[in-house]
Amino acid sequence: MGVQKQVKLLDSSRFYILTAGVLASFILVGLLRVNFESDQLYYIRLQQVMGAVSLVFWYIALLVSPLTFIFGKKALRHVVYARRAIGVLAAYYALLHLCIALWGQLGGIAQLGHLPELIQASLVLGGVATLVLIIMAGTSFDVVVKRMTFTRWKLLHRLTYAAFVLVVLHIWMIGTHVTYTTVQYVALVALLLLAGLESYRILMSIDKKWHFIEGKGGALLLVIVCMAMWFALITSIPRMFDNYHSKHHEGAVHAE
Ligand code: HEM
Repeated sequence: MGVQKQVKLLDSSRFYILTAGVLASFILVGLLRVNFESDQLYYIRLQQVMGAVSLVFWYIALLVSPLTFIFGKKALRHVVYARRAIGVLAAYYALLHLCIALWGQLGGIAQLGHLPELIQASLVLGGVATLVLIIMAGTSFDVVVKRMTFTRWKLLHRLTYAAFVLVVLHIWMIGTHVTYTTVQYVALVALLLLAGLESYRILMSIDKKWHFIEGKGGALLLVIVCMAMWFALITSIPRMFDNYHSKHHEGAVHAE
């Protein structure tokens, strides 16, 4: 029995993804330590990197659903299987980001009360998003899914979309790098791609029941309309929410 279990574990792509992800975090800690002599700069860069890696894993995990809808479960079965490990890594890196930011960069929980309101609000949004990621990671085991029933588990995991919106706002309100024009363009394209694919998936799912889409042309037109709406919504974030760095450093929108 024991041997069989070990073989199963070593055959699982999830095991390798998780192991590689955790090892990569140790390597990042070491690499950045060697490159930054000042503790303060080290903590800032380390938490930024951990936050960015969490975001990338999360984004990949989110992309899997619409891509599976388009290309079929069979074609993407390995990616669908690996997705849980990718989601768990997103939670792991978010937790590292939180701990390094809180106890390394900011100087502990007691300091939170002294931070400007905009930063506090951003941290609350990031905190809620982290909590959602942790709950999802904690309920990503087969035993838990079985106990919760698949329908309830699926409903809980829909929270990921709301949490992702919160993290986008968290990053916009506090992030240093979002003030760079190049980063803004990359973020816009990435968000539009995800939103466009998700819109297609949702529209087609609704159409299965209501039959309101006229052929492929009709579907394309509706997706374009949705994308235009998403574009308007995403580009209005800077008008609706302040970015701490742009607010406090004149001309802080960098051209790079
Ligand atoms: C899922 C949860 C989270 C993700 C994916 C995430 C991701 C990020 C990213 C990508 C940035 C931008 C860094 C940059 O501009 O270089 C950032 C900024 C920041 N985050 Fe988070 N974050 C999360 C939650 C949290 C939480 C709970 C805290 C609480 C301590 C936190 C503290 C910070 C701080 C202090 C910054 C400012 C970094 C800077 O100096 O530019 N984050 N976060």
